[in-house]
Amino acid sequence: MIQSTKEKSSIKTDMAFQRCINPDCGATYDPSQLHTSCPKCGNLLDVAYEWDRLEVPTKLSDFEARWSERTNPVRFSGVWRFHELLPFVPQSEIVTVGEGQTLLQQTDAVGSFVGMDAGKLHLQYEGMNPSGSFKDNGMCAAITHAKLLGAKRAACASTGNTSASLALYCSATRLMKAIIFIGSGKISYGKLSQALDYGALTVQIAGDFDDAMIRVREVAEQLGIYLVNSVNPFRLEGQKTIMFRVLEALRWEVPDWIVVPGGNLGNSSAFGKAFMELKELGLIDRVPRLAIINAAGADTLYELHERRGVRWNGGNVNLDPIREYMDYMDQNGIKADTLASAIEINRPVNLKKCLRALEFCDGVVRQVSDQEIMDAKATVGAGGFGCEPASAASVAGAKVLRREGVIAPSDRVVCILTGHELKDPTATVAYHTTDQELFNNTLGSRGVNKASYANKAIAVPNELTDIIKAIQLYA
Ligand code: F0G
Repeated sequence: MIQSTKEKSSIKTDMAFQRCINPDCGATYDPSQLHTSCPKCGNLLDVAYEWDRLEVPTKLSDFEARWSERTNPVRFSGVWRFHELLPFVPQSEIVTVGEGQTLLQQTDAVGSFVGMDAGKLHLQYEGMNPSGSFKDNGMCAAITHAKLLGAKRAACASTGNTSASLALYCSATRLMKAIIFIGSGKISYGKLSQALDYGALTVQIAGDFDDAMIRVREVAEQLGIYLVNSVNPFRLEGQKTIMFRVLEALRWEVPDWIVVPGGNLGNSSAFGKAFMELKELGLIDRVPRLAIINAAGADTLYELHERRGVRWNGGNVNLDPIREYMDYMDQNGIKADTLASAIEINRPVNLKKCLRALEFCDGVVRQVSDQEIMDAKATVGAGGFGCEPASAASVAGAKVLRREGVIAPSDRVVCILTGHELKDPTATVAYHTTDQELFNNTLGSRGVNKASYANKAIAVPNELTDIIKAIQLYA
């Protein structure tokens, strides 16, 4: 944990407040309390700023001056070096563990799989974060706010990455105790191992992520525990910076498309807010289009946005189709079901914010099968940094949109790779295996029946000549 007290100029907190996203309500609350929904009308909240009372750079390239200040941990952080665009806290209070050192990788190997012209496909690899996923971008902001409030306990429901991130920030800073809620059997070992190793109190609920999410909200409310799921508006402030880094890597040029997997819809909501604010501040002159990709087995957003026509509609969201679909899922016992465990979510808590982002960024939603996800994942592994299954949904979704002609081959496309390759090694090994039983048990049951992009290990006798022969044949 690092706290900077070095810089003299502090950004004051009295210029930030919480505001209900429902324009008919618009209630505001000061930042000295955490609200995960509007106490007046129940809608989600934003962190809002009085920008005209704040010092904001006049152009994005002004942030380049920070590159030479990397010995200051606040400037080293890929989140807090954009502090002026998330100024809800004075610099002296910032918590950072060096998150956000991530890279925008241009790759033609993955680009040709998607169907793009050379030089057009980029992967924003958020697996480089300290706990292995994009969550650290938001967690440093949430923990900073929790610290301001003097919280001693912080909780989340998680499919793995949020819990690993929360647990890491708690162990590294010793500021508060992490309490994580997970659906039993619904977390990968890699992620569970992080939470256990970092000392989090781990509560296994008999149910899935959607069940754990409902419970953690109830428990946090009753016990006054700081909640770090993405209903926390401060967390989403940190996640805006993923977009700032994408722009930075493109030398402040706006790409044509941002493609992101959709689970609880925190990222897509944060990205939309980032572009709304940059536009309002005159720091960009156009916004990219947003494509949000669901797994076919957890496709609530796709169903609502693409099939039932649910729109933000300037804040007047038609709630009837949403209620009808939720009732339909309840009555038919429909549960999210996909290999992409991180997006195995049927009741996305940020639905309305995400609809707002889709409206602002002229967005589209698509769904992809587990087969498409695993093929895309193998391609990213062979032509990029690798990623976990949920992240590969972005590449699989870009391929679908390219095939449909929605994305043009000459468009500049950025797919967000949200989590690290090592999240779910069981699925990866099963995809590349020669053991048919392992393949069937792990992937076949999910509708994955071929591995066209597999890189199979070769079996050789323990004989030098056979080993040499095999290597000469294959490499
Ligand atoms: N990708 C990864 C790797 C994730 O871990 C998650 C969410 C998502 C995508 C979906 O992002 O919710 O912003 O739409 N993981 C949560 C967790 C649920 O508990 O770690 P979203």
